[in-house]
Amino acid sequence: MNSMKFALPFLVCTLLLLGFLDADTPNLFFEWTVSYAQRSPLGVQKQVIMINDQFPGPLLNTTTNDIVNINVFNNLTEPFLFTWNGVQQRRNSWQDGVQGTNCPILPGRNWTYSFQMKDQIGSFFYFPSLLLQKAAGGYGAIRINNRPVIPIPFSTPYKEFDILIGDWFISDYQDMRSSLDRGIPLPS
Ligand SMILES: *[C@@H]1O[C@H](CO)[C@@H](O)[C@H](O)[C@H]1NC(C)=O
Ligand SMILES: *[C@@H]1O[C@H](CO)[C@@H](O)[C@H](O)[C@H]1NC(C)=O
Ligand SMILES: *[C@@H]1O[C@H](CO)[C@@H](O)[C@H](O)[C@H]1NC(C)=O
Repeated sequence: MNSMKFALPFLVCTLLLLGFLDADTPNLFFEWTVSYAQRSPLGVQKQVIMINDQFPGPLLNTTTNDIVNINVFNNLTEPFLFTWNGVQQRRNSWQDGVQGTNCPILPGRNWTYSFQMKDQIGSFFYFPSLLLQKAAGGYGAIRINNRPVIPIPFSTPYKEFDILIGDWFISDYQDMRSSLDRGIPLPS
């Protein structure tokens, strides 16, 4: 029993080192366009940030080990950068969307994020990193499902829902940003 406990992680590490697991690791490909639209989630119309015409953005439904490639087209009028929350990346670990390690995508340009979902099972989310854009949307849910060989310690839920909770402002995010720059606090 004890030797089994030891042998399994050792085998998994060895396979990882040898890159064997990559051979049949699924590669997922997505094309996302980030753009503006007018929506009124709280009854007051304002400019929001959509992904593929969805607000909030599409669910990124993945399984541990998947290699995710997302070609993001920035159709905003300003630079755009995604933060991928909860994604531990073995490959290209600098592609987590932190300004400084990852350049923003310039307006009218596109860039392909490529990372592997590693060692985490659960619910996470992505959001815009810069310029207070996340006050206007551009976020969505990430699910990292377990692989069948790694069973979860409870029965499969009947249904799953992704709930994103945050502050919502009826003011335009660009107006709020310029107010903040002038030292005026955010509205309620
Ligand atoms: C997410 O992916 C899992 C595993 O491939 C699949 O069983 C499930 O139906 C998918 N859910 C959605 C909402 O696409
Ligand atoms: C991107 O923006 C251009 C104008 O700047 C517009 O013509 C085009 O329809 C937009 N595409 C999408 C997918 O939003
Ligand atoms: C931009 O999109 C084009 C067309 O889909 C693609 O061929 C190209 O690789 C993308 N560029 C980057 C830097 O991701």
